[in-house]
Amino acid sequence: MSDPISQASALDFADAGFRADPYPVYRHLRDAAPVTYHEPSDAWLVARHEDVHRTLRDERRFSNGSGSRADPVVAVVGAGDLLNLDPPRHDVLRRIVRAPFAPPAVAELERALRAQVERLVAPLADAGAGDLAADVAWPLPVWTMLRLLGAPEADVPRVTALVRALDQPGGVALDELRRLRRYVEETMETTDEGLVADVVAASAAGELTREEGAGLVMGLLLAGTATVACLIANGALVLLRHPRQRQRLRDGSVTPAMTVEELLRFESPVQVLPRRTTVPVTLGGSTIPADATVLLLLGSANRDERRFVHADALDLGRRARGAVALGGGIHFCLGAALARLEGRVAFERIFRDLGPLELAGEPERLPSADVRGLLRLPVRKARSG
Ligand code: HEM
Repeated sequence: MSDPISQASALDFADAGFRADPYPVYRHLRDAAPVTYHEPSDAWLVARHEDVHRTLRDERRFSNGSGSRADPVVAVVGAGDLLNLDPPRHDVLRRIVRAPFAPPAVAELERALRAQVERLVAPLADAGAGDLAADVAWPLPVWTMLRLLGAPEADVPRVTALVRALDQPGGVALDELRRLRRYVEETMETTDEGLVADVVAASAAGELTREEGAGLVMGLLLAGTATVACLIANGALVLLRHPRQRQRLRDGSVTPAMTVEELLRFESPVQVLPRRTTVPVTLGGSTIPADATVLLLLGSANRDERRFVHADALDLGRRARGAVALGGGIHFCLGAALARLEGRVAFERIFRDLGPLELAGEPERLPSADVRGLLRLPVRKARSG
């Protein structure tokens, strides 16, 4: 058997087999090479929960900026994306957009969200078959984000198509990303509602530049769409494959909120988060040099048996505190309350009220190792289950 480091270097994030089931590789890394250099991506992989958790809270030594490397995706998204900023600028820009994401403001969306889920699920309920990923999981968060941003509902199909096309086997599709960025700029010219209007007003008041404003809005749109789509689609597939757990949701012995927490842990939509070291750092017994890329394997941390009992088992009743699916520290997911609400409302309607469903074909996986999710999930009503 070769040594753990060279085994880690054999890891191919683009491999379809790895993407279909990354968990055995993650387990190997946690056991044999918890912090290790991965030559193909010229990055350090961090696999254990304890190390990921600690790193997320150490924004001084682990920066969200791209350091000395130019990143083409960051160049298109723009300077104001919170995910690529460090303090103090990060904190200034986050304050500008945080109000609508606070739990009380998000709770006010519940009724409208339920009505929207109803509209999206209706064709499936009527026909007895449909695609839970393409027809429900993807359009729902796009509809929600456009509403929050103050963009017209009529744009949902166009934006959904762009967002679904972003992740490609070779990385992010830059043409689609540019189109989305132009869409954000147009919306900033035309709308006087919602978060976009708040950002335009803040830039008129000199709190941020217009360029930062476009990056900030673009970052929100990106962060709040594919992630939720993947939570709903992954969650739906997992529930279809675990009838006993699904029954617990249907008979009320676990709540939809508990279901969302466990699904976030079990099949984390964001599998990998990048950081950049600002100084040499010793972590998990390895020393990472300064200005190195670090990849935090959230999907691995959330399956770490050192942190979660029977980590590879789905247990909707587990009350999984400590999962890092939504990050931690100063970059903790701004949309956490919204993501949880969207997931709760979707799972309630699909699995508690719609009646038994079964798979009606092969699910199609999103071709990305960073974001775990599905593009297609064909289902039909089942006679029992
Ligand atoms: C299930 C769905 C979601 C998941 C799994 C998720 C996951 C995450 C994670 C892991 C981070 C931390 C990134 C880092 O530390 O570098 C994050 C940050 C963020 N998320 Fe979410 N997210 C979800 C939904 C949303 C939604 C609905 C929004 C709404 C706009 C949103 C907006 C953001 C923003 C703006 C940040 C950056 C915050 C900052 O840097 O201060 N997310 N999210």
